Amino acid sequence: MTIGIFYIVIGLYVIAISYFHFKYPEMRWNWDNISTDKISFPQSFIWGTATAAHQVEGNCTNNWSEFEKGTKDGGQPNIKDNQQSGIACDHWNRYPEDIKLIRELGVTHYRFSVEWSKIQPKQETFDVDVLDHYSKMIDTLIENNITPVLTLQHFTHPIWFDRLGAFEKEENINIFISFCERVFEEYSGKVDYWCTINEPAVVATQGYFSGRFPPGKKDSDLSAVVLKNFLEAHVQVYHTLKKMENGSRVKIGLVKNINQFDPWRRWHLLDWLISSAVNHFFNDSTIEFLRTGIFKIRIPGLAWIYHENPGAIGSIDFFGLNYYSHNHLKMQFSVEEPFTMQYPDEDILTDMPYTIYGEGIYRAIEDVSSLGVPIIITENGVADSEDNRRELYIKRYLYAVSKAIENGFDIRGYFYWSLIDNFEWSFGYDMKFGLFEVNHTTQERTLRRGAKTFIDIVRDET
Ligand code: BGC
Repeated sequence: MTIGIFYIVIGLYVIAISYFHFKYPEMRWNWDNISTDKISFPQSFIWGTATAAHQVEGNCTNNWSEFEKGTKDGGQPNIKDNQQSGIACDHWNRYPEDIKLIRELGVTHYRFSVEWSKIQPKQETFDVDVLDHYSKMIDTLIENNITPVLTLQHFTHPIWFDRLGAFEKEENINIFISFCERVFEEYSGKVDYWCTINEPAVVATQGYFSGRFPPGKKDSDLSAVVLKNFLEAHVQVYHTLKKMENGSRVKIGLVKNINQFDPWRRWHLLDWLISSAVNHFFNDSTIEFLRTGIFKIRIPGLAWIYHENPGAIGSIDFFGLNYYSHNHLKMQFSVEEPFTMQYPDEDILTDMPYTIYGEGIYRAIEDVSSLGVPIIITENGVADSEDNRRELYIKRYLYAVSKAIENGFDIRGYFYWSLIDNFEWSFGYDMKFGLFEVNHTTQERTLRRGAKTFIDIVRDET
């Protein structure tokens, strides 16, 4: 009898695992048989490069600069080796020179963010000189035939907003909306592409679950609340800006990083469960909200939240897709850290703990295509200090994007991350994402060899 039950349990386990295994295969292409030179992009395809204010401008005083001075519970610095963003790449002063670099790449679009803490240093004050600075930068881009793509919030906010509870509190969304209205009033006459918020799920999970980003909390329920508030902020900003002058003319989108999560051991039910739970939290809850107006996370013991706003449907003119990483999750019995990330030996690892997995961007495009709006790849790039994987990376990812276009997906553009080496958040300056290397002592910029591949592709495809 007991032996009978044992066989039944084993049988059911095998059926369940086989079901998952065949229903959700891990896409793998045989790169040895693929000629990555066989790519083509439509004439109208947008080619660009991207940065974010805190990472390049220098002299930011915001929630991140505060966090950079701090340590974690165990005394470890929040940022690797206690690095601080400081003067960064001095892009604030050197933007004219950097715009020349953008031109050197041959691209036609530049995605950047404005720094909220500089524009609104106090809740009651907007700094007109700062607004004027960004206005001049936008004008210089346009004079150089570079189309500006403006991000309103890229990870940072003013310290006063932090003290009010930032995006932990739904009532603070109005404050963010007022800031967005002011920026839109200033620049919507000359900026046609707007990104509301960069990667809400990254801030929600890194800031409130792993504690690697400010405010360094580890509270999965709060993490879900913050994600909900960010998405709600996006929806409200979208509808507010659309009603303003130029609103109906410009394109407004949300930028979301899709991470691929696969089980480390394909025979292990718990690895399947944890990877699908993380995928549900990180990716699907956002996509579902934009598709149905219902935001729902149901992970017993970790996060449980329900929120509805029909206004989320139709709240993006384009989906800004960032793609970087493929994670294999291995479940472990720890409430603090319920899984670890694993990397197959046969995959090529980059300097960030991300593997080169071109299929991942293809899968991400498939995932978000259910929203039925144009997709713009707003970020994709590699940290490669030796510059010996950048060429391969660019070729494989652009091959995958080209393949997706060939297969009918509506992808309008591709922005390489990043124009220049910059402050890579909790990794400090150690991660070299730039097409141009930056010497942080002299601020000299030098084109990387691997970047030439990108330049060649842009030249051949335009
Ligand atoms: C962020 C960038 C970051 C990049 C590389 C993206 O998630 O938007 O700010 O530098 O990833 O890690």
